[in-house]
Amino acid sequence: MKSVVVAAHQDPVSVSTNSRVVEAVLACQEKLPMACGGKGLCATCHVHVLEGADKLSPITPREKLALPMLAEQQPNSRLACQAKVLGDGVKISLPRVAYLDASSTLERLIGRRAEMPIVHPVHGRVLIAAGKIITRSRIQELAFVDVDIQEMQSRCQSIEKNSYSER
Ligand code: FES
Repeated sequence: MKSVVVAAHQDPVSVSTNSRVVEAVLACQEKLPMACGGKGLCATCHVHVLEGADKLSPITPREKLALPMLAEQQPNSRLACQAKVLGDGVKISLPRVAYLDASSTLERLIGRRAEMPIVHPVHGRVLIAAGKIITRSRIQELAFVDVDIQEMQSRCQSIEKNSYSER
């Protein structure tokens, strides 16, 4: 077992050696939408490694492709679905953002201010800044996000098909 600290939680959580960072995040009851189901195709499991980067598995080829596309990418960025915990002393933080899962999700928030940045689930760009009022016209402008999500889902399906056919 290895201990991981998820920032904002004082107590470390224990995860099995070689388990993915996402296991530690979920053990802290933090939400991680994982829109692509852990295939390295989205922004929704993006974390920042504050300590212990050398206690994680090396950056995967999929992360090498995905991380540069993320709007909030930093040198310490990793994808929690790809990075594995190999040693003690890893500390991570999660971006304080809300990932949009469909433009229609915002309908119930019309007329309210965004409590935190609402960001694109594939590349993490800010769609609605914190404090901005959510309007019907802005939601209509965000219809392209639904198309992007569909494209990501079809890429996920083709990865799954290919992995089945390789077995
Ligand atoms: S869940 Fe999509 S990249 Fe990790």
